[in-house]
Amino acid sequence: MKKITITIDGASSTGKSTLAKRIAHHMGYTYIDSGAMYRALTLYAIRNQYIGEDYFNKEQLIKELPGISIDFDPNDSITLNGMLVEDEIRSMEVADHVSTIAKEPIFRKFLVAKQRELGLEGGVVMDGRDIGSVVFPDAEMKFYLVASAETRAVRRFRELRDKGERVSPKAVFQNLAKRDAIDSTRKDSPLIKPVDAIELNSENASEDHLLNIAIDHIQTRLH
Ligand code: CDP
Repeated sequence: MKKITITIDGASSTGKSTLAKRIAHHMGYTYIDSGAMYRALTLYAIRNQYIGEDYFNKEQLIKELPGISIDFDPNDSITLNGMLVEDEIRSMEVADHVSTIAKEPIFRKFLVAKQRELGLEGGVVMDGRDIGSVVFPDAEMKFYLVASAETRAVRRFRELRDKGERVSPKAVFQNLAKRDAIDSTRKDSPLIKPVDAIELNSENASEDHLLNIAIDHIQTRLH
């Protein structure tokens, strides 16, 4: 059967990655986390002290871009210059700076090219902010996930706490609010619901329920 491209966009902690992974598993497709790529580039900038509390050496990061390789290993875990960084990219420090980097067209161009390359043959489920609108505007199946700001903050707080990160619920809420604002108002590829996307609300829906709805839509598209 023909392998299609499935996109899932939405704000932080709307449940995109959970749904994307489950769809990919169900369909035998590859899951690609585009946010992890922006996070990996941000980690590189933090490690080299190109971005911090009150500074951003954008020019230096641009200069080094051709030497930065961001990829996925066979387990779909993200690598930065060949090293696994799956855990480190999920930190609050990375979350604090990622939207500043992601709003710059030059960094987007660099990562979007890689994302298109990864999705070239179809059979992928990719999640992010601009996947259905910019990266794969011709994708056969597009979803857009929503949930309230409060629910999203609680989810992300629990995730971080379970990973052992010492962070307050307030700091998580503020980080999500700040990223929502930057991600949805930036000039290049803002977070929008693609016109042809199916909206799913994960507020009170179980993971199984969302998966079933998504699979029904996909099956309809495939036949
Ligand atoms: O996991 P969470 O939803 O918090 O975020 P993510 O998907 O890991 O994305 C982290 C950040 O990367 C977002 O806040 C955006 O600034 C940026 N991003 C983007 O600009 N475009 C994408 N396709 C994916 C992520």
